[in-house]
This record gives sequence, C-alpha cells and structure tokens, in this order.
Amino acid sequence: MARITAGIGSSHVPLMGVAVDQNKSADAYFAPIFEGYDWTRAWLAKDKPDVVILVYNDHASAFDANIIPTFAIGTGERFRSADEGWGPRPVPDVEGHPDLAWHVAQSLILDDFDMTIINEMDVDHGLTVPLSMMFGQPEAWPAKVIPLAVNVVTYPVPSGNRCWLLGEAIRRAVESFPEDLNVQIWGTGGMSHQLQGPRAGLLNREWDNRFMDGLVGDSDANRWIPHIEYLRETGSEGIEMVMWLIMRSALGSETRLLHRHYHIPCSNTAIGHMVLEPVESAPTA
Ligand code: DHB
Ligand code: FE
Repeated sequence: MARITAGIGSSHVPLMGVAVDQNKSADAYFAPIFEGYDWTRAWLAKDKPDVVILVYNDHASAFDANIIPTFAIGTGERFRSADEGWGPRPVPDVEGHPDLAWHVAQSLILDDFDMTIINEMDVDHGLTVPLSMMFGQPEAWPAKVIPLAVNVVTYPVPSGNRCWLLGEAIRRAVESFPEDLNVQIWGTGGMSHQLQGPRAGLLNREWDNRFMDGLVGDSDANRWIPHIEYLRETGSEGIEMVMWLIMRSALGSETRLLHRHYHIPCSNTAIGHMVLEPVESAPTA
C-alpha cells in the first residue's frame, strides 16, 4: 500500500531559484534563507520519498485567462521547466508517476472532486523552486513528482475548507494504491506577501507564525480562515497559503513537527518552511 509519510510546507519565491541557479545561496542575503533548509536536505538524503505530490500554483505559465482550473493534476510522464521570461530554469525535467497520478485522479473524481487532468504542461517556479530548495542541484530529481495545481491567482479561488477536504481525499486516494510507495505531499507558496498596489511589500510575521503553529498537532482551525482574512492580514498573494492546508490535512488528524524555519524577507515575501509527519492513526476508510 502507498503511504503519505511526511508533509513539507515551503515558500516558492522565484528569487530563491535564481540564487540556486547562479550559485549565490551562500551570499549574505541568501544564507539565512538557505540555512533554514539544511536540516531538510540532510533528512531527505537519508529518507528519500518515491513520489512527491507537489501542491503548487501556476503563475500564468501553463494556464492563463483562457483556462483557469481550480484543481488540476499532472498525469504525464514528464514536465519541463516553464519559460517565465528569462528562458526555462536550468533544472532537470520533472518526472511524473502516471500510474499513481491516474489512480489519484480517479479516486478524487469518484470522491466528488472535479479535477482537471493534464497530460502536458510546463511547470513554473511554484513547483521547481521547492524542488531546488529540498534537493539542491542534482543531475535528475531524486523523486517522481505529481504536480497538483491550485488556482490561487484569479478570483474565485477555492476556500480553505475545500482545500482541507481535498487533502483528506488525497490521503484516501494514496492509501488505496496497491503498490508500496513512500509518498510525500508538499504544500507551497506564501507566506505573507503582496506584489502589487499600494500595499506592495506587506509582511505579517505574527500572523504567519500563528498559521504555522496551527499546522502542528490536531487542530483544524486554519481551514476556516476566510479569504478576506488572508487578503487583509497577509497581502494579496498570501492566499497561496491555502495550498499548505491541502498538505496538512493529507497527513491525517494529527501531526508532529520535525523542522520549522521562518525568515523575512526574500524578495517581497516572508519565507516559511515546515516539515511535518503524521502521528499514526488508522488509515481512513
Ligand atoms: C514573489 C513571490 C511569489 O510567491 C511569487 O510567486 C512571485 C514572486 C516575490 O516575492 O518576488
Ligand atoms: Fe507565488
């Protein structure tokens, strides 16, 4: 049986990808950001997942105003790095896991989640930057990746509760896959940031840390945070944090904290990073 063994939350700021690609991660500006990922890189090197379900958002790279899937799953064999204006990032192609991805798609759809199924798409910084932060600069990514894209760019975006329910359904989907696979789920984006308008640069250390506190243990209070609170307290792009809720709820009713990191700023954004593991509970029916 496949199992979700851990969850990772991480910001996905493009500048972190630039720092990796230009070998600047030890520079004074970047060192305090990257040091917060050292623990995770060492931990992943010892206990490598077979597959990562990587929850992220596309930033008008694969999708645009013509098509706005609320929830999309990548079922392809491979996904290339998107050209976001400066050429594709020099990172390996992302290898998918079509068998598990199609199984998850079927399970989610029969579980009443209307997933968009995507066989071909390029993946942007929302997906490749977390891979670089966790795995560095390998020749090939050490795990297969199932991209799970969430619309947090164009209103209306899904509610925190809908994201929470999707995470629970992903857990059921993975646990009903017969092959023994070590699966992790990553939630990316956030934390507080606003890229445009009069409040550009808004950061909220207190709110972000309260949100992170709420992901540890057995609380599900974060699922009820309304959109307006993310907007008001964490800026227009803080809404990306609903993707962390998918990761959290896929770990079951209770989590244990393995690692936590927070740093302000990176570009316009508050960097948050957490590693969580499920506290053993009976598999869901
Ligand atoms: C920045 C942060 C993001 O999450 C993003 O998608 C793009 C830019 C930033 O802070 O520059
Ligand atoms: Fe983003």
